[in-house]
Amino acid sequence: MKTRLAVLGSGSGSNCQSIFNAIDDGRLNADVVIVLSDNPDAFILKRAAQRGVPVGILNCRGFKNKFPEEEQAALARQLRKMQVDLICLAGFMRLVKQPLLDVFPRRILNIHPALLPNFPGVEAWKQALEAGATQTGCTVHYVDAGMDTGEILMQAYVPVLPGDTPESLHARIQVQEHILYPAAIQSALSRL
Ligand code: GAR
Repeated sequence: MKTRLAVLGSGSGSNCQSIFNAIDDGRLNADVVIVLSDNPDAFILKRAAQRGVPVGILNCRGFKNKFPEEEQAALARQLRKMQVDLICLAGFMRLVKQPLLDVFPRRILNIHPALLPNFPGVEAWKQALEAGATQTGCTVHYVDAGMDTGEILMQAYVPVLPGDTPESLHARIQVQEHILYPAAIQSALSRL
């Protein structure tokens, strides 16, 4: 039986695409059974629809950065019904809390564009640049109730090069993210 993944994202979905690619070339023994977004215009939804993966929109309207509790409860029920084994946050820009964490304990992963515990929060590549870091990277971690604080599963290092802009640094980090996330998911599957 293949492990059933749900992917949540708010943006372009290049990490979701890397999960699709890893499934297709046998690096990841899983199926993505649904892709959900809080942003109805997010390209991640188009990537999923193109592949024939069911998509859903999370109703967070009127809540600036929050993921309303009732919406999380409804999502937890839906994903349980769909027999989802693992939830992968891939550029999802809202904080996951109870009740989702209670229903999926140690079954929610996130990819963050820095070497946690350094530079949690938004635009971590910009934070690294502004801090004058000479290296940064990306982290896959289990999600807990904090912001980017859960147990670290895997990390990859990325150099900060002279003349880097936020865009060039983020692009270099993303190359590593696309390798790291599928590998970390596969590793998490073996520990379920
Ligand atoms: C990725 O770099 C991911 O690490 C970051 O958003 C980007 C999404 O790109 N996530 C966070 O900053 C979460 N705190 P994608 O939509 O192309 O996968």
